[in-house]
Amino acid sequence: MKIMVVGGGGREHAIIKKLRENPKVEKIYALPGNGGIANDAECVNIGAKDIKGICDFAKKAEIDFAVVAPDDPLVLGAIDELEKIGVPAFGPNSRAAIIEGSKVFSKNLMKKYNIPTAQYEVFDDFEKALAYLDTAKMPCVIKADGLALGKGVFIAETLTEAKDALNTIMQDKIFGDSGNRVVIEEFLTGPEVSVLTFTDGKTLVPMISSMDHKRAHDNDTGLNTGGMGAIAPNPYYTTEIARECMEKIFIPTINAMNAENRTFKGCLYFGLMITPDGPKVIEYNCRFGDPETQVVLPLLESDLLDIMIAVSEGRLSDVDVKFSNKSACCVVIATSGYPTGYEIGWEIRLPEDKKDAFIYVAGAKREDGKLVNSGGRVLGVTAVADDLETAIKKSYAMAEKVYFKRGYYRKDIGRKAMAVLEKNKG
Ligand code: AMP
Ligand code: GLY
Repeated sequence: MKIMVVGGGGREHAIIKKLRENPKVEKIYALPGNGGIANDAECVNIGAKDIKGICDFAKKAEIDFAVVAPDDPLVLGAIDELEKIGVPAFGPNSRAAIIEGSKVFSKNLMKKYNIPTAQYEVFDDFEKALAYLDTAKMPCVIKADGLALGKGVFIAETLTEAKDALNTIMQDKIFGDSGNRVVIEEFLTGPEVSVLTFTDGKTLVPMISSMDHKRAHDNDTGLNTGGMGAIAPNPYYTTEIARECMEKIFIPTINAMNAENRTFKGCLYFGLMITPDGPKVIEYNCRFGDPETQVVLPLLESDLLDIMIAVSEGRLSDVDVKFSNKSACCVVIATSGYPTGYEIGWEIRLPEDKKDAFIYVAGAKREDGKLVNSGGRVLGVTAVADDLETAIKKSYAMAEKVYFKRGYYRKDIGRKAMAVLEKNKG
């Protein structure tokens, strides 16, 4: 089979590596891919948002199955267009991808169908939003409605911070039209859990749980980033919480989407917070998470392509989705300065010996035969082991062997999870 994967980050590298395990796969194209993905797939210089380019290529290359990984092309209707030209694909259509594409949509959906989430108000008028803030409890959370590269969420401790955030979104329009509307919501507390699920709109199968590390620096300090590391499974996600999420959140969400005539097929990502009042939805994503995918897929024992095809054909209930009971840790190596300003073009040399860990490449390209950084998050150094402690040790040991002068990484990925595991033991 000829497969095409749209996207070019660490997540797509992890997906491609897993798809390659299927003996039916003859060839994988990555659009656009990156300098590391190039070792595992043929990279084609078509951007992930170029829907026409993607479809033209799929036709020309006689693609048998497509996987669209990033949010932008999903929201823009890549799956709809691929279907129109007869290319089967994994991912939600644009009507369903709105669950991530519009925070106003997802908050209203949760309210209408009683899915637990933070209390909120929606505003499209700056002055009204400003007046509301004067009455709101601090801290509060202000979110741009549309896609904002994961940066559209502001946690305001004080009224001044809240007003600044509102200005940034609605007046300065740093996210463009994504800031035409805002959601202002209650600040929740508790540990966060990411649960990626496979669903064809009828059956929903949760993958192994994971924990992202969103802040740039150790001990959850510094700016929010796209994710500086992940571990799986997440020790906060107990069997009891998993049952509660299935009953009160996961199933109600797919039912709600069906009731709205927006059946979701693909990977539905639940960003959850385990609050003192039980698990609540912080966000939905219409796709695999990054870096969560880098720890979840290495633990998948079943065949990813078979699952994806079953999802697209609406027969997920026919396949057995199994995860190993090992643990995984992914340490992200970013360019110093990320998530604000950073330089590109610095050489990266990966260790030869990849026995104990493997490296997913995100923001790097090939230049004059060398691998150089081309983005903020550059590598995802991942290890799998029988226990989390060993997985963490192995990924850090490998991260130390990477040569990248302008790189930095957090030193505490998995520390919080280890503390929970220790407490549970004692
Ligand atoms: P999001 O992009 O919606 O995942 O938000 C980014 C991060 O902001 C989340 O991972 C949370 O840590 C935090 N966050 C979002 N909404 C809330 C909330 N209502 N209460 C507390 N923290 C939040
Ligand atoms: N790791 C969070 C996300 O993928 O949105």
